[in-house]
This record gives sequence, structure tokens and C-alpha cells, in this order.
Amino acid sequence: MQLKSRHLLGLEGMTKEEIHLILDTARSFKKVLERPIPTVPTLRGKTVVNLFFEPSTRTRFSFELAEKRLSADTVNFTASASSVLKGESLKDTIQNIEAMRIDLVVIRHKAEGAPYFLTRCVNATVINAGDGAHEHPTQGLLDMMTLREKMGKLEGLKVVIVGDIEHSRVARSNIHGLKSVGAQVGVCGPSTLIPREIEKLGVTVYPHIEDALQEADVLNILRIQLERQKGGLFPSLREYRSLFGITKERLDRTARDITIMHPGPLNRGVEIDSDVADSDYSVILNQVTNGVAVRMAVLYLLAGKRAKF
Ligand code: CP
Repeated sequence: MQLKSRHLLGLEGMTKEEIHLILDTARSFKKVLERPIPTVPTLRGKTVVNLFFEPSTRTRFSFELAEKRLSADTVNFTASASSVLKGESLKDTIQNIEAMRIDLVVIRHKAEGAPYFLTRCVNATVINAGDGAHEHPTQGLLDMMTLREKMGKLEGLKVVIVGDIEHSRVARSNIHGLKSVGAQVGVCGPSTLIPREIEKLGVTVYPHIEDALQEADVLNILRIQLERQKGGLFPSLREYRSLFGITKERLDRTARDITIMHPGPLNRGVEIDSDVADSDYSVILNQVTNGVAVRMAVLYLLAGKRAKF
């Protein structure tokens, strides 16, 4: 079986079989990462450009590590140290980079649709590492890998995504991916941060965190993205925390075994407290570990499938 597209732009429209193919491949790569020499020659001779127009820690490092573990040649592009500062367009930037013979582009950009736009400008395979508030497909995949690993299955799981759904590409990719594999998805947060008509995606809206806590197997807690908000969407961070913040006291009160996820970076003391983030409920660092294996799987399936590992 193969992925239908030669690019990874989002999880919308991806089938259950494709998602499980990526997760099964990632599980094999995770075993490679546990070997004394965690490197395979799968992408030897391929060149990958990491094109980051927005800040990143986890996604950027894990893509770079995944590429190195697969023996690809990698080049890192940082907008703030490039001719973008002199006014060069995205199209000119990528066409000049492609003229140096590259095979894959990993792009993070603040504009929704920037990865799709790149597919119209270059022949290289394009992987979306987060475009504005649209999608962050490899984050959705690593979240599903982490859940499948812990729970043994995804079908039927009740996952509630908490927080700023409106501005979240992580929420969109999780909703599309989890719905495709048969999980039940809910969202919870201030009404100003819940997109209108989100129920049409088959998602349950929980206005109150206490109701979500009564039903969820998993809470995926999102960062309050102050940099994407225009302000005035909720009165204060203190009020947000009091209504939606995930505290140890709230979790203890439910007396249920709820798995806690967060894509990072964390606003400790706002959407999540430290004694939750660092507790046995949390799989936050497992998500980060799985990020490398998932990105290896995506790179392999899109570019290197004929090689053995
Ligand atoms: N989860 C995530 O996308 O984190 P970074 O912004 O650090 O890459």
C-alpha cells in the first residue's frame, strides 16, 4: 500500500488505511531509533530543505533529526537570515532553492495554504510543518501514534481538545485524523475560541470543562496562542485558567484515568498546571519522542519507499 498523494499537506481526506500505514511504519522506525546506531541509509542521496518562516523547537528539531537518521542531506533555511528580509518572495525563494536540486521541502509558514502554493511552484515533494491556523499534519499523526501506543487502539476513543480551537492547526489535524480512524472527538473552550459550525465535522462541543472531564478518555490541551489572537476573546488569562485550566485538583475530582496531551510549547499555570504536565497522567514527552519516528515514516513513504531499513 502507498500514500495517495506525493505531498503531505494535511490530514483532511486521508483514509484510515493511510493513517495506520504511517503509524505502523513509524512503529518500525521507533525500533530503529532504539538501536545503538540509530541510522539507516533510506534517504541517502536525497536532499531535504527545512524552510521555517515561523519559530519552532519540536517540529524543526525532529524533522532535522528524522532526516539525519534516514541519511538524507539536509539544509536549514531560516527566514530571518535569508534574502526574504530584502523582499524576496516565497515563490522566488523556493525556485532558487530548487535550482540547487532538492528532493523534499518541509515548510512552516504563517499563511494558510503556503504549502499548497509551493506544490504549484516546484517539483519537489512538499511536507506541511504547520501553516497558520490550517493544519499541522505530522503533529496530528504523532498524537495518534502516542495514543495508539498507550491505549492499543484509536477507534472508539473519546478525545476532547481543550482551548483555543479557532486558531489551532493542531486541532484541525487532530479532528480530521481522529475522525478518519473512528475516534470520538470533542472540543471545549470559550465560545469565542470555538469555530462556528464545528459540529458539522462530527465534533461534540463541551462548553464546560467539568462535562468534558466526565466523558473524555484523553484531553489534548492546546496552548493559548496570544500571538495569533487579536485580543478581547476572553477577559484575562486568570479567568481562562479558572474556567478551563487543567489543574491537578480538577483531575483528582473526576477520579477518572484521563490521558493528558499537549503539543507544546506549554503555558504552565494557564492552560495546564505543572503538576499535571509532569504527572503520570501526561504523555507529553512521549509525543515529542514519537515525533521523530512519525517524521521518519512520512519522509520514507513520500521519498524513499524502495530502500530497506
Ligand atoms: N508542537 C509544535 O509544533 O511545536 P513547535 O512549534 O515547537 O514546533
